[in-house]
Amino acid sequence: MVTRTRKLGRTAIPRLLGVATHVGALIPLASILWDYWFYQLGADPIRDVTLRTGKSALILLGLSLACTPLNILFGWKQLIPLRKVLGLYAFLYASLHALTFVWLDYGLDPGLIREAIFQKPYAIAGLATFLLLLPLAVTSNRWSRRRLGKRWNQLHKLAYVAAVLAGLHFLWLVKGAYSRPLVYGALLSVLLLIRVPPIREKIVYWRRQLTKRMLGRSTSDV
Ligand code: HEM
Repeated sequence: MVTRTRKLGRTAIPRLLGVATHVGALIPLASILWDYWFYQLGADPIRDVTLRTGKSALILLGLSLACTPLNILFGWKQLIPLRKVLGLYAFLYASLHALTFVWLDYGLDPGLIREAIFQKPYAIAGLATFLLLLPLAVTSNRWSRRRLGKRWNQLHKLAYVAAVLAGLHFLWLVKGAYSRPLVYGALLSVLLLIRVPPIREKIVYWRRQLTKRMLGRSTSDV
């Protein structure tokens, strides 16, 4: 009975987490479509869509990068498969964001787009982020992972570079209201620090010691 319950927990929890991730990640898109359909986008609808897709891309990228550090901190292995899903949703929103900019805002005019991007440092940082996310999304499948071997892990570490560039993009465009990009930068720095090998090993060691102590206490209570 106990093993059956454990087995159910082992399959049901990842499945529930997977469903919750898909639903949660699609909510911003559904809300944009809803507001478009019912004429509830802001006074400047294109800017509204640009800001909402950009924000969603940034949050999902951050959440994707948070899975490994959360596993290191709390031993939540179930989060590991969600990195890919969250990363792909981040790329989906980044693509919609970039598409809104080049299509809805600049009417796919190459001259205007080039001018707009190269005149604004924040747009260059946004473009660089998008160009870094592109190979990560394309190689996120099992076939590429097998083919690239060790290089796959090295390539996917670029997700952190993309997150830093996305932070710069955000910082550059807020014009004085630095609190949100600074909170993002602080969280990203913590996530990066947790992954540094000596820090990571120390955390895992402390977590194991704590679990052992707690288990010892609960068996002595019985
Ligand atoms: C071709 C690439 C990109 C271009 C041209 C671009 C351009 C823009 C523009 C024009 C804005 C609105 C600025 C304003 O009106 O105040 C914006 C906002 C934003 N973008 Fe991008 N972007 C790009 C890529 C990205 C990527 C890849 C991410 C994240 C992963 C991102 C995250 C954001 C965020 C977080 C905001 C601000 C949202 C807010 O203030 O709530 N952008 N971007």
